[in-house]
Amino acid sequence: MTDALNVFMRWLHITSVVVLIGGVLYARFVLAPVLQSLAAQEQDTLGDALAARYRSLLFLIVLLLTATGLYNMILNINRGSLYQSLLGIKLLLVLHVFAVGILIVKAKNPKRARQMTGLVISGLVIIAISAVLRQLHLN
Ligand code: HEM
Repeated sequence: MTDALNVFMRWLHITSVVVLIGGVLYARFVLAPVLQSLAAQEQDTLGDALAARYRSLLFLIVLLLTATGLYNMILNINRGSLYQSLLGIKLLLVLHVFAVGILIVKAKNPKRARQMTGLVISGLVIIAISAVLRQLHLN
């Protein structure tokens, strides 16, 4: 039963990561360049509409990642100092991803594209750190 819950929480954590980082990556490298071919007024209107549409999904994902991440943390308490240090760095980057995530779904944000690049970079680094965390306790 506990095993099933652990697997479910892991699935939810990974799925949330996919939706967040994959979604923003698509917006930054597929939607944003296409938007650039439109007139400035249309770019703003469509950009704000896309951001508004993504907003509730983003807030849900932040909630799910925090809940499942805390659950994972409790499962991995006492993994040693290297693990704790890497987890600390990961959590700082997570704060960056969450803060920037909230900025990019705001309306009238001319820096949105650049902020999305930052979010994707931090997200990819977090995924790499998480892979190392997992490697530290393969069994
Ligand atoms: C409050 C937020 C978060 C907390 C507390 C948290 C914590 C954790 C912990 C403790 C693990 C287990 C690592 C291990 O196997 O030893 C984990 C796994 C993972 N996390 Fe997070 N995390 C959070 C948010 C994020 C975010 C924002 C991302 C990606 C952008 C992310 C990506 C991953 C990935 C890819 C794994 C590996 C899953 C696995 O191998 O089972 N996490 N997380």
